[in-house]
Amino acid sequence: MDLQSFREKEIPSFEKEMLDYIGKDLTKKEQIHEAMSYSLAAGGKRIRPLLLLATIHSLGGNQKKGYAVSAALEFIHTYSLIHDDLPAMDDDDLRRGKPTNHIVYGEDIAILAGDALLTQAFEIIAASDAEPEKKVKLILALAKSAGPDGMILGQMADIQGEEKELSLEELQFIHKNKTGELLKFPIYAACVIAEALPEIEEQLMEYAEHLGLAYQIRDDILDVVGHVEELGKNTGMDEEHNKSTYPGLLTLEGAKAALNQELAAAKDKLKNVEQISKNSDKPVQINLLVEMIDLLVID
Ligand code: IPE
Ligand code: IPE
Ligand code: MG
Ligand code: MG
Ligand code: MG
Repeated sequence: MDLQSFREKEIPSFEKEMLDYIGKDLTKKEQIHEAMSYSLAAGGKRIRPLLLLATIHSLGGNQKKGYAVSAALEFIHTYSLIHDDLPAMDDDDLRRGKPTNHIVYGEDIAILAGDALLTQAFEIIAASDAEPEKKVKLILALAKSAGPDGMILGQMADIQGEEKELSLEELQFIHKNKTGELLKFPIYAACVIAEALPEIEEQLMEYAEHLGLAYQIRDDILDVVGHVEELGKNTGMDEEHNKSTYPGLLTLEGAKAALNQELAAAKDKLKNVEQISKNSDKPVQINLLVEMIDLLVID
């Protein structure tokens, strides 16, 4: 199966399950649930859930077992976007093609909607029907990836780096943390759920490391060359906030080269996976994961 068919088959049913965690009948719900649903249901590429489900499938597992964790991850990612867009942070008024949460509900409710998505994410995993040891591993890893040594650390460095000339090394640190961590988590979660061999998991995590950095380099590039209608968010915002970015530090061409370098390195790791898997009794199908890389190419 190719990635397009896999996405068409899995993502709509995943999304339905994800939104059901907030409630099917919103008329009986409070405004906080409405504010949470507003940002969750607004769309988004669902790249993190797709990565998680596709990796389980590639490892020969049942992707349905990844729905709850994928929902938790998308809750946390969506919370990070709501807070990222606040006036005190990136001050954006458009997200996923719609006015940002605070524009619609006000800053106070937007902050709470983010808090609520973050908190409920852990409830979703804790209440899921995965084996207890797996749940603890997943909760621990998600907390680490999203917390003060992961995404938050990166967001912190991003804010502190505004108006400063950062080195490429410092910028890479920001990108790996603010974005890379929540893109590494789905690969790790899939390895836990599908019980990947340790040597396969090691290579997949390196794949994820390159993919995660590539994703934010690409986001920086799209902020310069992308279109509002396609991205569903404003462009030119990094320059407006004097953020250090890959295009800013390396020029547009340099940033594209850095993106391609990360994508090529990710591909190499998949070749290692293929090699290791050939000599084992647990075959891994890498094609969906190769297609994930191709999805990120900008020409
Ligand atoms: C946006 O993430 C923020 C970054 C970490 C680059 P996405 O580009 O995955 O946003 P959605 O989920 O599709 O809206
Ligand atoms: C945000 O990075 C990463 C998050 C943790 C939300 P950006 O600030 O570049 O993301 P966009 O461009 O607003 O989506
Ligand atoms: Mg930001
Ligand atoms: Mg932003
Ligand atoms: Mg950006």
